[in-house]
Amino acid sequence: PLSAGDKTNVKAVWDHVKGHEEAFGADALHRCFKIDCQTQTYFPGKDLNEGSAFLHSHGKKVMSALTNAVAHIDDLEAALSKLIDKHAHDLMVDPANFVLLNHHILAVLAMHLPQLFTPANHRSLDKFLHTVMRCLISKYR
Ligand code: HEM
Repeated sequence: PLSAGDKTNVKAVWDHVKGHEEAFGADALHRCFKIDCQTQTYFPGKDLNEGSAFLHSHGKKVMSALTNAVAHIDDLEAALSKLIDKHAHDLMVDPANFVLLNHHILAVLAMHLPQLFTPANHRSLDKFLHTVMRCLISKYR
């Protein structure tokens, strides 16, 4: 579980993510699709090339969902409930893919916010993304 210190660290970093959801999200998704090609199979017919309108709009949605999760970090289940249903029931995303995307989100944060990517913040962000993932896959059967 996230400690009080983890929550403080995540909020401190996320203050610097706010306003950059589209750029950071598009970068993370682009890396995810490029490096872990199997994730592309969930997006048939979408333009997944660097800089595409879809990468930008979807990247913004994903990162903004995380911004909202940070804002409700004490009540993640409620904050993510719609997304939990969508990913588990409608999309049926294999949980393994969340691990992959989390890795790319972490990499993007490290590159864009190097001064904030201390070992302590790194660990707290990793735990936060893992907690979000546990939530998003909690309704799988
Ligand atoms: C849709 C967030 C992980 C596949 C969405 C949406 C959000 C979101 C906000 C839009 C929901 C809506 O329009 O109602 C997240 C977050 C994730 C995550 C926060 C983890 C950090 C994944 C992963 C995959 C995935 C790992 C598969 C590789 C999809 C697909 C859609 C979607 C296929 C529908 C896209 C479309 O047709 O427009 N996600 N997602 N998601 N997500 Fe995720």
